[in-house]
Amino acid sequence: MSESFYDLVQLTDPHYMEDPDGRLKDVHTRSTFVQVLTAALAESPPPVAILLTGDVTQDGSRSGYEAIRNDLARTGVPVWCLPGNHDDPAVMAEIMAGDGFNYCQPRRLGPWEVLLVGTWDGDRGGGRVGEAGLETFARQLAASEAEHILVCLHHQPSPMGCRWLDGVGLDDAADFMAVVDGDERIRGLAWGHVHQALDEQRGAVQLMSTPSTCFQFMPRQDDFALDPQPPGYRPLRLHADGRIETAIRRVPVGD
Ligand SMILES: [Fe+2]
Repeated sequence: MSESFYDLVQLTDPHYMEDPDGRLKDVHTRSTFVQVLTAALAESPPPVAILLTGDVTQDGSRSGYEAIRNDLARTGVPVWCLPGNHDDPAVMAEIMAGDGFNYCQPRRLGPWEVLLVGTWDGDRGGGRVGEAGLETFARQLAASEAEHILVCLHHQPSPMGCRWLDGVGLDDAADFMAVVDGDERIRGLAWGHVHQALDEQRGAVQLMSTPSTCFQFMPRQDDFALDPQPPGYRPLRLHADGRIETAIRRVPVGD
């Protein structure tokens, strides 16, 4: 029996620390993540999976990944994740896989395929898909028999209009976008990294960035500035006809 839609939620940039009670920019990152997660899972109907688009930890620490894995595993909802620049891909791939956790592998939802593209290129702020990554991405597209495709990644593949952040975006965005433009089944690109919301259209493709679950960056700034807005998440309803219905939900949090 086929469903008419599939609900996901994107949570991003939780920045767990080696000390799970650690604070970053005066935010208790684990506490705010759990509060945002609780709100996201109260969506009705509940999501079939959680998309976690990088900077899962601030420091690549095992204890950080173990803490977030425990917090997520307790929900029973599958987690599909990819690394951000702050992550350690080897440690993350080991801990955030198996038993409901998917690290960077394609996932099928009825007529939809969700692809998770790695952009980690060292802990240097910016990222790259790289030659091997672009080949993998193209191979996954070629192998997919889905009618519609959602692509998730960490770094922004198109400018945010925020000078300092656009200096640490996706270095090979043009090569990545050339692959995206070559497959008209791609309906949306969703990313993290920028700690702010963006919804734009590029032809038939929805471009989406999502607030962090901890602290936010002020949009359209030349230099780094924090935004006092609360954290948030993005519900994504993937309709069987290829439409993506989405929104940004802000979650007022306490410590
Ligand atoms: Fe981040």
